[in-house]
Amino acid sequence: MAMPISIPANRPDPCALIIFGASGDLTQRKLVPALYELYCQGNLPENLFVIGVSRTEMSDDDFRWHLGEGASRHAIGYEEGKWREFARRLHYLAGSATKAELYPKLKARTRELAEVHGLPTPGLGSTDQTWACLPNTLFYLSVAPHLVEPIVSRIGEAGMVYEGKRWCSIGEGPMPWQRIIVEKPIGTNLESAREQVRALGRVFEEESIYRIDHYLGKELVQNILVMRFANTFFEPLWNNKYVDHVQVTAAEQVGVGRRAGGFYDRAGALRDMIQSHLLQIMALVAMEPPASFDPTAIRREKIKLIDAVREVSPEDAAQFAAFGRYAGSGNSADDDGGLGYAELEGVEAEQRTETYAALKLHIDNWRWSGVPFFVRSGKKMPRKLTEVVIQFREPPVRLFNHVDPRRGEGVSHANRIVINIAPDEGMSLRLEAKVPGPSLRIKPVKMDLDYAYVFNAQPLESYGPLMLEAMRGDQTLFKHRDEVDGAWRICEPFLTSEQLRASVETYGAYSWGPSAADALIGGDGRAWHNPDAGERR
Ligand code: BG6
Repeated sequence: MAMPISIPANRPDPCALIIFGASGDLTQRKLVPALYELYCQGNLPENLFVIGVSRTEMSDDDFRWHLGEGASRHAIGYEEGKWREFARRLHYLAGSATKAELYPKLKARTRELAEVHGLPTPGLGSTDQTWACLPNTLFYLSVAPHLVEPIVSRIGEAGMVYEGKRWCSIGEGPMPWQRIIVEKPIGTNLESAREQVRALGRVFEEESIYRIDHYLGKELVQNILVMRFANTFFEPLWNNKYVDHVQVTAAEQVGVGRRAGGFYDRAGALRDMIQSHLLQIMALVAMEPPASFDPTAIRREKIKLIDAVREVSPEDAAQFAAFGRYAGSGNSADDDGGLGYAELEGVEAEQRTETYAALKLHIDNWRWSGVPFFVRSGKKMPRKLTEVVIQFREPPVRLFNHVDPRRGEGVSHANRIVINIAPDEGMSLRLEAKVPGPSLRIKPVKMDLDYAYVFNAQPLESYGPLMLEAMRGDQTLFKHRDEVDGAWRICEPFLTSEQLRASVETYGAYSWGPSAADALIGGDGRAWHNPDAGERR
């Protein structure tokens, strides 16, 4: 069997990982379990240590216990002894990250722990005060958006970033780096996103800013580029001559539950999923081939694609979108206690926040002119499903209409590629084939690639690999400020359209969403790809 091709990845640099918002859910459920998994696989740089920063008073041991709880539930292959070994790398510092008083303590603790863990700290002992004498440092901001600006400013004022804005003033040499990972949401609209971009830019170079999108860490999302550009036969068909339309779907079976009042009611499906994750997937599906497999080349193509998405005016937005919110299921055992979204605690029903959004987008470039891209995401749908559907056109001449008269009446079996991002990672291609036998009968069949089966591997949780990429200094899977800006520019007219907001329709819990979404795609005889319960893709 041929060996898989791999690019030798740069070794991740050892570093201090400073997590702000460390007592929060993300750290306990995702970040630390992912670090533990990397540790067990031998992929975590030696000497790496973590300092969790948060306001809650806790000792290192309390912090380890709290995280151990999460790891035992969320990490693959959790094992008590291994966890204890790993947990020695976890430390905690209580304090308010928006207050300047915290930072001298944070610097001192970082230096002290660098010594304990044997992490090189070039410059320590030097008399040159332009150095902060810190090791490689990766800041991780897992905090509410309004805290980003003050925390980044305090980091800057404390002199913890000396690569950033001042890199050209300090001679080249074995300088440690400082990078920052920022969680979504990046702002809540175009203006606040720009403010955040400016705040980060005052302290960090764009090359040191890693805007994380966990969807970009998903294997099948990364596979989109491999599929398109490591094969010959997709690219010639990947355009308006052969593709009828494209669908990008992220459906979730869960409801909003307890997140409703604190977060979701101010976000909604368009901000929470489409602006952040789905437009990224769309960009990978539709971008031009990059000049090389290099972070800058890839991000440049994604930016160009996002720039080519047609802007609609708020007045026209309702023609190109459908919003909905789910009704109650009546099942008190579900995550909303059977209630509908509007009845959940903390929800201001009159705000008409959408738990489902579908957009019809157009890309005004030569490749995609005339091909609509339908992007949708919703909670409380029949199943968890993240997928991309490339729907091809019918052949130019229909030689076989006589075999199945329904084909002449709008029943289309045109070729279709379905890329299943999650769950059941894989890909299928729908083809027409002759049914064996003496008469001519035609049936659509699927060629199916099941990722877990073919590679005999389960896809990894995306946070771990993404953190490693940041430690390697590879920005391919992170968003450039222009991509964020472009995505807000596309979404903003839909968010501000009063007509669209007023038309939010209630859809049945565990249904495929509001009827307006069917009308949005169906105008030209198209339909959403809503696989049945047992169907994988
Ligand atoms: C997050 C959203 O970014 O993605 C959540 O804030 C959503 O609302 C989650 O549930 C879905 O992620 P995944 O990886 O489970 O598809």
